[in-house]
Amino acid sequence: MTASSVLLGVNIDHVAFIKKSRETSYPDLVQTVKLCEKSGADSITIHLREDRRHIQDHDAVLIRQHCKKLNFEMANTNEMITFALELKPDFCCFVPENRDEKTTEGGLALNKMTKIQEKSFKKDIERLKQAGIEVSLFIDPDEEIVKKTKELGATSVELHTGQYAIEYESNNHQSEFKKLKDAARLANNLSLKVNAGHGLNYKNLQQILKLPHLNELNIGHAIIAESVFIGLDDAIKKIKRIIDNSD
Ligand code: PXP
Repeated sequence: MTASSVLLGVNIDHVAFIKKSRETSYPDLVQTVKLCEKSGADSITIHLREDRRHIQDHDAVLIRQHCKKLNFEMANTNEMITFALELKPDFCCFVPENRDEKTTEGGLALNKMTKIQEKSFKKDIERLKQAGIEVSLFIDPDEEIVKKTKELGATSVELHTGQYAIEYESNNHQSEFKKLKDAARLANNLSLKVNAGHGLNYKNLQQILKLPHLNELNIGHAIIAESVFIGLDDAIKKIKRIIDNSD
């Protein structure tokens, strides 16, 4: 896949965060979705967290009605699986969730699951797939975890780029990048779609676009932060230009 065909998923949790922080009706999330799509987002990502710190249940329902492609991030809980089966997003991405974290801090600990947990997770993934939802697992770039993703029946991996992003700040990211590259190759060999995200920004994105077999990038915080200065439309177009010019 060439970099220019890499899709962009825009995570709008941070817009919902502003709305939730004052319990106001603005910023309007449907307007946000429409603007993101018009500016070049290929899909919209939201994460309905257990503590409802940004996106609310009714926001998710409204966004589903108005967006072309929805990627729904969620923890592996009965509550969320039931919600997702009703919401019917195009994609579900399972992520680990921890109440005290500022944001998702790492990939799913698939290597620490018991056989019973694996069996139950497999069943849940199958239920979502039967409902026509593509299922992705947010994982660290690790060979065993990529293999486990396949065994569990997911259709895609979302490779966690958070550690790469941290190391990039001290120009020490090459070994993290290699892990991501190896994991992307393995996932593709196993017929898993390769997505990536977390901590990506206008600088560290360039090298990530060199990952083989990349299907989609999910980016939120950096786009919303940049929109403070240049507006959401230009912030998305600026990311799209980096993606399109990186062949
Ligand atoms: N992918 C996943 C699975 C995430 O949990 C997040 C953060 O919500 C992102 C991508 C986007 O990360 P960022 O906001 O740092 O771009």
